[in-house]
Amino acid sequence: MDTKECIYSRRSIRRFTDDTVSDECIHDIIEAGIHAPSACNFAAWKFILISKDTPEYIRKAMCNQIALTAPYGLLVVYRNDLYVSGRVLGDYIQSASAAIQNMLLYITSIGLGACWLCGIPQEKNLRKAFSIPRNFSVIGYIAFGHPDPEGIATQNQMVYHYGDEERFRAHQPRYSVDQVLCKDKFRSVTDDCTSAKYPDAWSWYKKKIKTALSVLKLLKKK
Ligand SMILES: Cc1cc2nc3c(=O)[nH]c(=O)nc-3n(C[C@H](O)[C@H](O)[C@H](O)COP(=O)(O)O)c2cc1C
Repeated sequence: MDTKECIYSRRSIRRFTDDTVSDECIHDIIEAGIHAPSACNFAAWKFILISKDTPEYIRKAMCNQIALTAPYGLLVVYRNDLYVSGRVLGDYIQSASAAIQNMLLYITSIGLGACWLCGIPQEKNLRKAFSIPRNFSVIGYIAFGHPDPEGIATQNQMVYHYGDEERFRAHQPRYSVDQVLCKDKFRSVTDDCTSAKYPDAWSWYKKKIKTALSVLKLLKKK
């Protein structure tokens, strides 16, 4: 698979078969991650492998349906206390994200599937469960394995998106290059992300308040 085909065909895979991924393959996935660029070349990442062999009490700390059902996962953490010229280097999220994307592309290129997850438990809980030191931040989780053919979404198809409040979200067609490319200075064009309607926080809170009120009402009746 050439680079362009790999980039274009990568999709988030959220359902997997139980088939095994060899240790050699897992080694190569991590190797792809560590070939990413990193700020000041610190390469201060760690990848915590979670598989069916991981003790159940540790595994279930992930509390995310995709992570719990995927046969494999990599929890990506990165040093957050690195200094350059007396200043804390704040770009650890970017360095770790570069490694994550490298791994996603490599996984695609070998016919496996993966999903980048940030809808995972709070850092303090993960820290405890996976013994992560304070000077490492949790950046994301890669659930991966052999894709379940029924779990592969095509353009515009509604997919089950566990991390979402609405639970379902259509795969939007990508913005075109004309919509995202700004020459010399920032500019807005028709139907680009500056005018798109994103889910607003208010409707989320309103829904929660409404549910809480109806529960209170029910309790009062009892
Ligand atoms: C930073 C980041 C966090 C994400 N978190 C989640 C998540 O918690 N749950 C999920 O199902 N997908 C998650 N995704 C995957 C996106 O939903 C997905 O990339 C997007 O819908 C585009 O679909 P595609 O990857 O198939 O092109 C995340 C992606 C990124 C980059």
